[in-house]
Amino acid sequence: MFQFVLLILCYSVVAAQAESNSSPYMYISPNTVFQNYEKMVKNFKVFTYKSNEAELKFATTEESLFYSSLQNSTYLTQDPEEAHLFFVPFSTGLSTRALARDLTRVRNELPYWNRTLGADHFYLSCEGTPHEPDRILVELKKNAVQISCFPTRKDKFIPHKDVTLPPLPSPHARARRVRASAEEFCVVEYGNGASSWIGEALRLGCVPVVVSEGAVNDMPFMDVLRWGEMAVFVRSERGVERVLGDTWRERHGRMRELGVGASRHLQWNRPPLPFDAFNTVMYQLWLRRHTVRYARMQYN
Ligand SMILES: *[C@@H]1O[C@H](CO)[C@@H](O)[C@H](O)[C@H]1NC(C)=O
Ligand SMILES: *[C@@H]1O[C@H](CO)[C@@H](O)[C@H](O)[C@H]1NC(C)=O
Repeated sequence: MFQFVLLILCYSVVAAQAESNSSPYMYISPNTVFQNYEKMVKNFKVFTYKSNEAELKFATTEESLFYSSLQNSTYLTQDPEEAHLFFVPFSTGLSTRALARDLTRVRNELPYWNRTLGADHFYLSCEGTPHEPDRILVELKKNAVQISCFPTRKDKFIPHKDVTLPPLPSPHARARRVRASAEEFCVVEYGNGASSWIGEALRLGCVPVVVSEGAVNDMPFMDVLRWGEMAVFVRSERGVERVLGDTWRERHGRMRELGVGASRHLQWNRPPLPFDAFNTVMYQLWLRRHTVRYARMQYN
């Protein structure tokens, strides 16, 4: 009888998990991710500095979508005292001088930048910011959270601090489909236009094989999702067939299932939906609200 009850109990737990909109195993912190997300939606407040430019211009659609979603969102506050993080908007392609001037204004007009030397501030820049000895630019690069595009350039991205926007699938890019052990995989080259297909591959249930020449610096939502459970990482194109031997047969079904579940985090929606690309970027920012630290810099 006891065993029977236990069985029923286990079954209900499994069923409940299957019912909840996705399996938690794709998450790095499966026990806290949903609670934290709900807290974020309720509490997260961002203060945006006024932009100097009449109209902000961004080089990529992802940046524009993020910006517009943030401006329309309930995360914004007019009261900097209740803000967890501060957003510094500036256009793509701004000259170094103009950028330094705008940031100096941010630093001089309100007390918040100096409080953490920019560490509770974030900005959007897929092109990255210049390497310049100017103190305010050093603080921006070293302390503030940069939101960049996937895939990032190694020298333009600081893992653990910075965040990447998941890519919109490019209409020209396609993943190469390969079969191994009768299972389907989508080969996505890291570092070129084809990597924009990563979210589509997941969504379509085609387990991504991420091929890279060198090390992979970043994956979207790397501190939220367990990419190793949903994608295969291979160092060069030549290795794909060899790596996708029989060993993947057993794991394929589960990877596929987790990938389909995780794919909603990589989808952009207008207006945004819960757990989609915009809200998951916000979630990553929310996770960083306490981890940002005052960093003492040395200036030469
Ligand atoms: C922040 O620090 C800078 C440099 O030390 C200073 O010039 C500026 O006035 C300070 N900002 C505020 C609002 O006090
Ligand atoms: C933000 O709101 C404006 C005006 O209602 C709308 O045109 C725009 O599409 C919205 N942006 C997003 C990303 O939903």
